[in-house]
Amino acid sequence: MKFFIDTANLQEIQEAQDLGVLDGVTTNPSLMAKEGIFGHDNVMAHYKKICDIVDGDISAEVISTDFEGMVREGEILAELHPNIVVKIPMIREGVKAIRHFSEQGIKTNCTLVFSAGQAILAAKAGATYVSPFVGRLDDMSTDGLGLIEQMVQIYSNYGYQTQILAASVRHVMHLVQCAEIGADVVTCPLSVITGLLNHPLTDIGLQKFLADHAKGNK
Ligand code: E4P
Repeated sequence: MKFFIDTANLQEIQEAQDLGVLDGVTTNPSLMAKEGIFGHDNVMAHYKKICDIVDGDISAEVISTDFEGMVREGEILAELHPNIVVKIPMIREGVKAIRHFSEQGIKTNCTLVFSAGQAILAAKAGATYVSPFVGRLDDMSTDGLGLIEQMVQIYSNYGYQTQILAASVRHVMHLVQCAEIGADVVTCPLSVITGLLNHPLTDIGLQKFLADHAKGNK
């Protein structure tokens, strides 16, 4: 399973990269705004900085909601760097844009997916990645991980090549359960990736090893 970091914060991206387990980055307009990145040139420059840190797929989301606008924006984004993946919302015009980019050999990530039906549509349109939002479904008392299970089953039934990118992953158990179910990718904050390190028995065990080693070296 690939690990993507879900942020536009360069320090966090660098920290995850330094850990040596990072396969890519996802951003969205809210994450860019959180870092204070506004305006076309600043946004483009920021994506370039991310591409300089991580040698993996970097999702950059379009703002347009009409086909022509998405194609125009997506082409500019795709020209920035070969690792850019054009992130497109699951709306009617978005599905057309995904089909267009798929035919051009430009990678896409179909975002804001909340149902198995939408996931089927994204795969049929030829999306490279599809992003079901696990946490946001859980937030409204709907089974987010259940959707990942459904998608894994459906994609396997038909051999769809679209990769399931579990998004809106909020905690370590989400990530572990996505791995059990067979998601291709998870994208999550740095805290979830570093959270994988933690176990109290590891800390206790290490303290004991070091203490015993110190005794022998007195
Ligand atoms: C990533 O592609 C999504 O935009 C992101 O995971 C959404 O996460 P959130 O629901 O925590 O905002």
